Amino acid sequence: MSTLFRKKSIDKIVADSEAGLTDSHHQSLNRVLTVKDLTFMGIAAIIGAGIFSTIGTAAFNGGPGIAFLFIITAITCGFSALCYAEFASRVPIAGSAYTYAYVSFGELIAWIIGWALILEYAIGNIVVAISWSGYFNNLLMGLGIHLPGWLLTDPFSAAKDYQEAIAFTTKNQPLPQHLTTAIDTWTNAPVFLGKHILMNLPAFIIVVLITILAYVGIKESKKSTNFMVIFKIIVIIFVIVLGFFYVKPANWSPFLPNGFGGVLAGVSAVFYAYIGFDAISTTAEECKNPQRDLPRGMIYSLIICTVLYILIALVLTGMVHYSELKVNDPLAFVFSKINLPWVSYIISISAVVATTSVMLVFQLGQPRIWMSMSRDGLLPKKFAQIHPKFHTPAFSTIITGFLVAIPALILPSSLMTDLTSIGTLFAFVLVCFGVLVLPKMQNAKQGRFKLPYINGKFIIPILAIFFIIAFHQRLSLAFEQMNTESYQEILFIVFVAILVVVAILSFLKNYSTIPVLGALFCLYLMIEIPAISWMWFFIWMGLGLCLYFFYGRKHSNLCPPNINC
Ligand code: ALA
Repeated sequence: MSTLFRKKSIDKIVADSEAGLTDSHHQSLNRVLTVKDLTFMGIAAIIGAGIFSTIGTAAFNGGPGIAFLFIITAITCGFSALCYAEFASRVPIAGSAYTYAYVSFGELIAWIIGWALILEYAIGNIVVAISWSGYFNNLLMGLGIHLPGWLLTDPFSAAKDYQEAIAFTTKNQPLPQHLTTAIDTWTNAPVFLGKHILMNLPAFIIVVLITILAYVGIKESKKSTNFMVIFKIIVIIFVIVLGFFYVKPANWSPFLPNGFGGVLAGVSAVFYAYIGFDAISTTAEECKNPQRDLPRGMIYSLIICTVLYILIALVLTGMVHYSELKVNDPLAFVFSKINLPWVSYIISISAVVATTSVMLVFQLGQPRIWMSMSRDGLLPKKFAQIHPKFHTPAFSTIITGFLVAIPALILPSSLMTDLTSIGTLFAFVLVCFGVLVLPKMQNAKQGRFKLPYINGKFIIPILAIFFIIAFHQRLSLAFEQMNTESYQEILFIVFVAILVVVAILSFLKNYSTIPVLGALFCLYLMIEIPAISWMWFFIWMGLGLCLYFFYGRKHSNLCPPNINC
């Protein structure tokens, strides 16, 4: 059992890093990133498919009150960012939450986190690539170029839309435009051995191009990222300022048309829009001064994006009635609605740029996590191989390319948004709890970030009592429904049980308030994600555990020589 929780020593990691030994038996990475670059990279990873695509449906369900969800999610991410920052200033090597879990909880949990992060970066990037493809096609159509429909969608969505269209026609109901397109797409698709061939070719091609950029180098990636971030921020500020003049306050009433339940239905979409600030912690070994700059980069990028997002949510729901927002391109849509198609076109360009930058940062992040896992012996050595000329983790970068490009060609994106959000929230929960078990820092070096300690002895139990009083009706309903396979309610009961245990422990052990609140907020958002996605999440984690027990555990660097781990 104890081998499952063997830990890496922080002191050794820091000493090695300070002596420049982290890469003693590997080629080293290029240390070029400053706090400005890191802030830009954070924004590059945050603003993308979420704000340009997935929040449409969230606003439709939640109404203008979706702005609340942006605030709650920002607070959750803020707590988590502070915990990430504490780790980043203490453990200055690549690997993000994976490395942090290795020093705080030991090897098994580290592996589990590393495996969950694949959901965030690789699976998350599939969603981004598909959204990119949609906006890119808008641009092409604006230029009068029409790609055949069978090259723009995956076979599963196409078959589903086609069935829906057939159901409409058999009922003699008039076909909405998107279903007419679905019939065209399906019937015009080439058929091979009796199967209709459909694929999302632009999504595939963009992943290949981004992978090449990530392979060639961090400097090139940094330069492209900075340009893309400046462009997308200018467009978003322009949208907010211009949109403000078209806001009709009447659209904000009712503010919560479907109650708070409607708002919470948007959890995974809104959280997805915030994911990314943590990705920069994978570049610790490419930072000039990671212990000072990484925490700042994460926190600055999160603050900037939070302000922009809350304003966008208010402008969007103020310009048109929330009931019209169930579209894939909400920002472009509201401007075409008020007869400003040129603004829509600029937004489409910006969406293409924004999603490109998200893809680039995620496509940089995933290989660096594999590199760290491989250095620790949990993955084959090949994953840590650094390219002699480009100084990037070459093999891992190529494998990431395949892992994202092929599913982007043939899979639909909806389930993957939920999976990405669950996987990331799970990593955040462990990072927050991980801070609680980190050894106390003596005489922190100047300039390093230190998480403020606020004693949670009374704060956490009082907040827990408030929560239970506020949600007592839902809790009793959940107990009543327990036997009816209402998995969502079971998740709620599990959350309340964890809340009670954590409140008692906080009282007994004087836990620090910020990490505890961070973990509890993340857990709460997790249980609001549909139970079906949890099932896929457990299957994914089960697969990861099998790999660990068959490979990682035996090959770990922490497995003493001549002992069969
Ligand atoms: N936050 C990133 C996006 O919205 C994942 O695309």
